[in-house]
Amino acid sequence: MTTAVYPGSFDPVTNGHLDVIERGSKLFDKVIVGVLHNSAKSPLFSVEERVNILKEATAHLNNVEIVAFSGLSVEFARKCGAKVIIRGLRAITDFEYELQMAQTNRVLAPDIDTMFLTTSLEFAYLSSTTVKEVATFGGDISKFVPEFVSREVYKKLGSQ
Ligand code: PNS
Repeated sequence: MTTAVYPGSFDPVTNGHLDVIERGSKLFDKVIVGVLHNSAKSPLFSVEERVNILKEATAHLNNVEIVAFSGLSVEFARKCGAKVIIRGLRAITDFEYELQMAQTNRVLAPDIDTMFLTTSLEFAYLSSTTVKEVATFGGDISKFVPEFVSREVYKKLGSQ
């Protein structure tokens, strides 16, 4: 059985993330989405909230599991028995950071590879940060995230 992990912050999950998860779920027997609990950051949603939102958004995918993790992504992959880390690549601007991370991870864990899925064109511009910024000013985020996620974002921000 081939298992891949997809680590990230998912604050909140966007349609771009969901596109990567759906495509990954067709390539691997199992995809475990790792939601990073990073005490140094103050995300909009708690790790429990992000896990629950992702569970609901991926409920139709029966080979996808959502778990919280802290620490290194390669350690998380090891614990899950995964040899592959999935990451989405939107544009050339992502490349330098992603390459550095993939190469660091490969030095830390030579038995684990990073596989990049290029984001579908319709989501190439999309990020959790821009979703939060648009929502902060009461803008329409319905094209960026599933409907129930947009409700959660507005509720959290107290906008709309
Ligand atoms: O969604 P993000 O914020 O782009 O995801 C970044 C993430 C979680 C993949 C990255 O920050 C990460 O792997 N953090 C865990 C710590 C780690 O493994 N660092 C080493 C890679 S340089």
